Amino acid sequence: MSQTTQDRAGACPVSHGTGGTCPAHAMADAFDAFEGPYQVDPAEALRWSRDQMPVFFSPKLGYWVVSRYDDIKAVFRDNILYSPRNALEKITPVSQEAMDALASYGYAMNRTMVNEDEPAHMARRRVLMDHFLPENLETKQAMIRRLTREKMDAFIDSGRVDLVEAMLYEVPLTVALNFLGVPEDDIDTLRTFSVAHAVNTWGRPTPEQQVAVAHSVGKFWQYAGDVIERMRAEPEGTGWMHDTIRKNALMPDIVTDSYVHSMMMAIIVAAHETTALASANMFKTLLTHRDAWDDICADPSLIPNAVEECLRYCGSIVAWRREATAPSTLGGIDLPEGAKLLIVMASGNQDERHFEDGDRFDIYRDNAVEHLSFGYGSHQCMGKNIGRMEMRIFLEEMTRRLPHLRLAEQDFTYLPNTSFRGPDHLWVEWDPALNPERTRPAGANAQQHFPVGAPDRKAIARRVVVTAVRREADGVVGLTVADARGRRLPNWSAGAHVELVVDGYDRKYSLCGRPDRDRFDLAILREEQGRGGSRHIHDTVREGMELKLRGPHNLFRLDEAAPHHLLVAGGIGITPILTMADRLKALGKPYAVHYCGRSRAAMAFLDRLEADHGPALTVHAKDEGRRADLAGLVADLPPGGQVYACGPDRMITALEELTSGLPEGTLHFEHFSTSLGSLDPTQETAFDVDLKDSGLTLTVPADTTLLDTLRAAGIDLASDCCEGLCGSCEVRVLDGEIDHRDRVLSKAERADNHRMMACCSRAANGRKLTLA
Ligand code: HEM
Ligand code: FES
Repeated sequence: MSQTTQDRAGACPVSHGTGGTCPAHAMADAFDAFEGPYQVDPAEALRWSRDQMPVFFSPKLGYWVVSRYDDIKAVFRDNILYSPRNALEKITPVSQEAMDALASYGYAMNRTMVNEDEPAHMARRRVLMDHFLPENLETKQAMIRRLTREKMDAFIDSGRVDLVEAMLYEVPLTVALNFLGVPEDDIDTLRTFSVAHAVNTWGRPTPEQQVAVAHSVGKFWQYAGDVIERMRAEPEGTGWMHDTIRKNALMPDIVTDSYVHSMMMAIIVAAHETTALASANMFKTLLTHRDAWDDICADPSLIPNAVEECLRYCGSIVAWRREATAPSTLGGIDLPEGAKLLIVMASGNQDERHFEDGDRFDIYRDNAVEHLSFGYGSHQCMGKNIGRMEMRIFLEEMTRRLPHLRLAEQDFTYLPNTSFRGPDHLWVEWDPALNPERTRPAGANAQQHFPVGAPDRKAIARRVVVTAVRREADGVVGLTVADARGRRLPNWSAGAHVELVVDGYDRKYSLCGRPDRDRFDLAILREEQGRGGSRHIHDTVREGMELKLRGPHNLFRLDEAAPHHLLVAGGIGITPILTMADRLKALGKPYAVHYCGRSRAAMAFLDRLEADHGPALTVHAKDEGRRADLAGLVADLPPGGQVYACGPDRMITALEELTSGLPEGTLHFEHFSTSLGSLDPTQETAFDVDLKDSGLTLTVPADTTLLDTLRAAGIDLASDCCEGLCGSCEVRVLDGEIDHRDRVLSKAERADNHRMMACCSRAANGRKLTLA
């Protein structure tokens, strides 16, 4: 590391008083990836970094550590600027003696898939993708279930078992070998090899251990070579590695010899160690969050999302690596060319800036699937749906056959390393006399079927009960809801909303009370001309009723660092604005609230606003002849001030125009709703999309969104609002003219023509688009 780089690392982005040592720098200097807090809980260990210094240089590791969700995603997204070439590099430099040991086995581990640069990577991924497509994986469900049941049958009457030994290690290994078409050899030997590979690549072995590890890795290398030879002798063999070997013969420039040997070794680890550890983490977490375990036992339809929440909260790959190919800026920090990055997904997965109440485990979190545990972008895990499938079947079989399972008293041990995380052993106990199948033998064979792929968001919702209904203003009803089972609700931040599900209507409403774990408060305007949801709620919802609710989410986040906030509300748009005012007051920040409405009688929360925010409040009631002078308000905005607005379209459009000359990011707004997600097929034209990364060409019919078309082709794409409001379904456009219909991108971003929201935007004039 050059002095210049060190100096740049020293450019502390935290504002702190003069004199003394910067506490964030001291934390950066102390960061140790192999022992201490990071090994105990990587997300918690980097909380300080997420809050104060999201990208920092770790002198002990020689890597830049990246801890926030958006920065990690940005790194994954740009695999040209941030090359994956160091993903499998040995993180601890190898001693000469260990190198000699490796050389004695002819060890020549080279690029595989996960650490290959473009264009070689995509060419290879494309020709080897078929086996991973959802329709080709569906047939594996029966095999996974059979293996799981066999293992469970062997221990179900014992009352105590180490789940890792008894099931979670061996089933993923057998599944992996079956998927690959690799002979099921000595499982114990493969286990020793896999651990050696993990220590060799991501661990910090002592000089003595290095030599022993090198011998195991060397033997693994030779074993992989032998297996390839055996497989070559079976040209009709089935499985992904057989396919790879055949493609190697057909297209040796794309699927090279060196790739085949290296991949044979790497994939055995990639395919099973990841899943075994993730499954062990899942059971440990669920059994320590008993409410969640009990809910799944009572309602197995919760399983797919519970698996995603486990992958988010306690995934098995906690960090991955990239290398900067040119100078860049990340999280406000300048990185030099050649900077090595440790991107800590475990930390990003609990980042409050993306996941509300991020460090809380919540199986009802409906955006859990946005976790980064499978990576993101063009290198995203090819086997994610196999891992998901195994974890779902494990959980389903265990919750059905052993609902009374509990975690035994034990000290957990982990293999110290930067990236792979899961307990070595997981002792569980139960009373076999209470096994449900002793009284209902048929229960042993019951089963659910979950389609391969990401969970269906519509299936995820928590049960809440209405504890109060009140009149907030003319046409505005206030609701208070609490968890139907009396559990604590998630925390939320100013500007957050929830989605209320009432008799088939899904409607989003901002939270408007004060954060309280026992209740959510909402205020709902009756919209006579709307789509019927608010009328239905007004007419039917009564105290004591049970409803369903998704969220909270926050797409309207307050930048608390801004020096001044102008808060503008129109009508029912006061709901998020009220929580922002509360928050700014609590922070002691300067702010002004301008509240516009038809008449005072129709304006909710006036008394509360006057009591709590009187000096900052200006009310503009139309029937009193008071209209807000938006132009004057914007003109008076102090430098660096930010505008937060929620209200009708015409108010937002006016503010967009008035702030167009101000720095990007001055105006933040939230619409009540849009009709952008609904298509009128008679007005739309079908168009084609070329997908460069996956080599597919798809047609988006006139009655279908790009988002739905991509999903139908097996491409996972996040989405939240499906109305062009949140930005989560963004795709990268390489060519073609976009008909932008979202409310997320700025004018400049639209003109740039490189990004679009797949849930609503389309190709202009039905012409073709090329996506990354
Ligand atoms: C890549 C995690 C299961 C095959 C990856 C990456 C991660 C990951 C973090 C790197 C992504 C990136 O660079 O953006 C996991 C986890 C799993 C799992 C957490 C289980 C819970 C599997 C399985 C297979 C598999 C079962 C195969 C049968 C692969 C392959 C790649 C990969 C081939 C390289 C993709 C590429 O570079 O294009 N996985 N994985 N994984 N994984 Fe997985
Ligand atoms: Fe929210 Fe598309 S899903 S913008």
